[in-house]
This record gives sequence, structure tokens and C-alpha cells, in this order.
Amino acid sequence: SGAGPLLFGVPLKYVSLVVLTVQNSVLVLIMHYSRIVSNVRYYSSTAVLLNELVKFFVCLYISSRESMHENEGRFEIRRVYQDIMGGDSWKMLIPAGLYTIQNNLQYVSVSLLDAATFQVTYQMKILTTALCSVLLLGTSLGVMRWVSLFVLTLGIILVQLPSGASTAAVSVATKAAASARFMGLVSVLVACVLSGLSGVYFEKVLKGSRKSVWTRNVQLSLFSMLPALFGVLVVDGKGVRSNGFFYGYTWWTLAAIACQAFGGLLVAVVVKYADNILKGFATSISIILSCLASVWLFDFHITKAFVVGTILVIYATYAYGKYSAPGADSKTGGAAP
Ligand code: C5P
Repeated sequence: SGAGPLLFGVPLKYVSLVVLTVQNSVLVLIMHYSRIVSNVRYYSSTAVLLNELVKFFVCLYISSRESMHENEGRFEIRRVYQDIMGGDSWKMLIPAGLYTIQNNLQYVSVSLLDAATFQVTYQMKILTTALCSVLLLGTSLGVMRWVSLFVLTLGIILVQLPSGASTAAVSVATKAAASARFMGLVSVLVACVLSGLSGVYFEKVLKGSRKSVWTRNVQLSLFSMLPALFGVLVVDGKGVRSNGFFYGYTWWTLAAIACQAFGGLLVAVVVKYADNILKGFATSISIILSCLASVWLFDFHITKAFVVGTILVIYATYAYGKYSAPGADSKTGGAAP
């Protein structure tokens, strides 16, 4: 089966997972900061739309290059159009809608919760993804991989415990703050379910056809623009019409958009060369990176629970990889031996 394509001699699968880990840590910090840096809040629906626009053009470029390559170097717009709009392109309508809601909810939660609480709770998407894999794809995980998932969850909870920011938030909690926190948690949980559903669905369509991941992503971002535009015109419509599309934007907003778009492209690569569940583990390691960043950026203290949780997360990641069926390369999530 081989290790797939290499980058500087390292399998792209691992490069993409490591880069995703770093990207995830950076995104949460930038996104959260972008929401609080100015007392004028930008409309997050506009950021979601711009994110899709960026991904659309990047993927369109790569997908056109691929199409040229298959056509002896000649660019034919009809070919590119056919590739994108033809056949079963409609299948991307479903994840496009779900991801757009998820991306909007991500902004809602990151505004209502502190960065640490958001990030750790968002890791529940590993469980929702595994459940969707099992229920929708009929993936068989085997006992040891279920155990790894359980250990991972435990580790995440432990890492989360000492979060200085969230305990401070609780101790000064007024009723309003508590209800904001509750709304934040609900919106993260819904985002987790949407993430699991759309991730698994995307992987199934991608691996079940010969269309490239870039073509699939052109379809995905193209179809996402409709619901994203709905968000801008209807959900935030009143404000956008009176204050303008870029109201409240700072450089941090643009950084958040760029980082989110880059992350979306990375997710596509990871799903192609690894799978959704491995992706989850990569992002859970990013919790540790963010906590370490918090030690340096803020006044975050490392506790015993944090160290134990970290060891559990790393061990679970290792164990999950180890108990993948040998040779199956975790692509099908084949039955554990
Ligand atoms: O948290 P999760 O991994 O589910 O987030 C996926 C993110 O990646 C979403 O922002 C989604 O819009 C993006 N994505 C993408 N292309 C894919 C899959 C996801 O841009 N093929």
C-alpha cells in the first residue's frame, strides 16, 4: 500500500497532520483574539463568506492545473467546468450546508467562551466523528481503538481542568455570564455533531469517486457560498446593510479568515491522505500546544492534572495508530486484528 506521496522525504500524511496540529492551536488563539481586540465586533458571517471565497479561488487554481495536466498542458474552460459541475457534484450540497452552519457556530462559541474551554470542548468532535464513521460508514473500530478514544476523552478532560481562564470566568460568573457560557457550550456541541457528520460524508464521497480532492473542495466552497451569503444578508443583514460588510474589521479578522481558510485546505489534504479520526487526534495534540502557548502568553500554570492529561492524549494517539489494521493504512478503518 506504501506511504503515499512524500514531502522532503516525509510522508505527506504525517506532514499534513503535524501542520494541522500547529494551525489548530494558532487558529483558536487568533480567532478568539480577533473577537475581543476591538470593542466593535465584526459580523462573523462576513468572515465565513470570505473564508469560502479564499478557498474557492485556491482550489479552483489547483483543480484547473490538474485538469491541464490531464489534458496535455492545454487549458480548456469547458473541461474545468464539466469537472466541477458535472456528474455527482450535487452530493457536495449537503456538507456545504452543514459546514457553513458549523463555521458560523464556531465564531459564536469562540466569542462566548474563553479560548481554552472552547478548544477542549470542541475536541468532542473526535467522538462524534467516530460515531458517525461507525454508524454511517459501517467502520469497525475494534475494542482497542474504542479504548484509545475513551482514554483520549479522559485526557482532554484532565488537560481542561486547570484552565486558569475558565475558573476565573466561573468565579466571577453572573447570571448573564453563566447563560453566555451555556449558550457557548451548546453551540460547540452542535458544531461537533455537524463536524462529525460532514467530515464523514465528505470522506465517503471523496474516496468513493475518482474526482480529486481539489475539485471536491471547489464544489464544497462554491455551494457553501449560498448559505454563507444567507448568513450575511439575512442573519446579519440589518447590521451589514447599515454599517457595511467590513464593519469592525481589524488585521486580526483578516488573519483569522486566512488561518481558517488555510485550515480548511489542510483538512482536505489530511482527509485524503489520512482519515477523519486521525485528524481528530492531531487536533487534540494541539490543545497541549495551545496550553503551552498560554504559559508563555498568559499566566498559565502547569498542574499535575495537566501533565497526566497530556500523557493520556499522547498515549491514546499512539495507541490508536498502533491498533489500526496493519497494511490497511487506516483508510477504510478496517477491522482491528
Ligand atoms: O473542525 P472540523 O475539522 O470539522 O472543521 C473543518 C473545517 O474545514 C471547516 O471550517 C470546513 O469549512 C473546512 N473544510 C474544508 N474542506 C474540506 C473539509 C473541511 O474547507 N474538504
